[in-house]
Amino acid sequence: MLEKDIKKVLISHDEIVAAAKKLGAQLTEDYHGKNPILVGVLKGSVPFMAELIKHIDTHIELDFMIVSSYHGGTSSSGVINVKKDVDQDVAGRHILFIEDIIDTGKTLKNLCEMFKDRNAASVKIATLLDKPEGRLVEIEADYTCFTIPNEFVVGYGLDYVENYRNLPYVGILKEEVYTK
Ligand code: PRP
Repeated sequence: MLEKDIKKVLISHDEIVAAAKKLGAQLTEDYHGKNPILVGVLKGSVPFMAELIKHIDTHIELDFMIVSSYHGGTSSSGVINVKKDVDQDVAGRHILFIEDIIDTGKTLKNLCEMFKDRNAASVKIATLLDKPEGRLVEIEADYTCFTIPNEFVVGYGLDYVENYRNLPYVGILKEEVYTK
């Protein structure tokens, strides 16, 4: 049913799982003995976070934030609004933000600066998708699974007015869906 609104499957479920496995192995190596806090930026990061952590074989903790930037449209407003913060003091802790996508970069740029000000031991970013053509501020992820073109994508956590997050793949939304 949802598939009829998708112009093209950009990244399949199998490709996402394979990328999460590879990244999980890398994070196991990089964070062994560091007991990092993986901070999921809700809501888009949920499916990727859930898949990724299954492939990390060392101690980690989880926390979540709610930060808004898109406000229901198809492009970033740039306004960062922290609606839910992490539950713990991050001073001296290794922080790894988990994102579904970096587009303008404003969300992560703000969050990284905020956590450095809180004296985190390190602040890094792992993202499922990177859309470099959308970038308005200078920020790069430390771990990127897929680099994508400047298309409006949904699925695997990514939404259009809160819908399509439950698609098991990342797809390009048909223009008629968001222009009607
Ligand atoms: C999306 C995405 C990132 C942010 C990236 O979240 O999950 O957090 O936008 O965009 P940027 O690089 O242009 O700042 P959104 O605010 O849409 O919330 P959601 O995760 O609940 O969909």
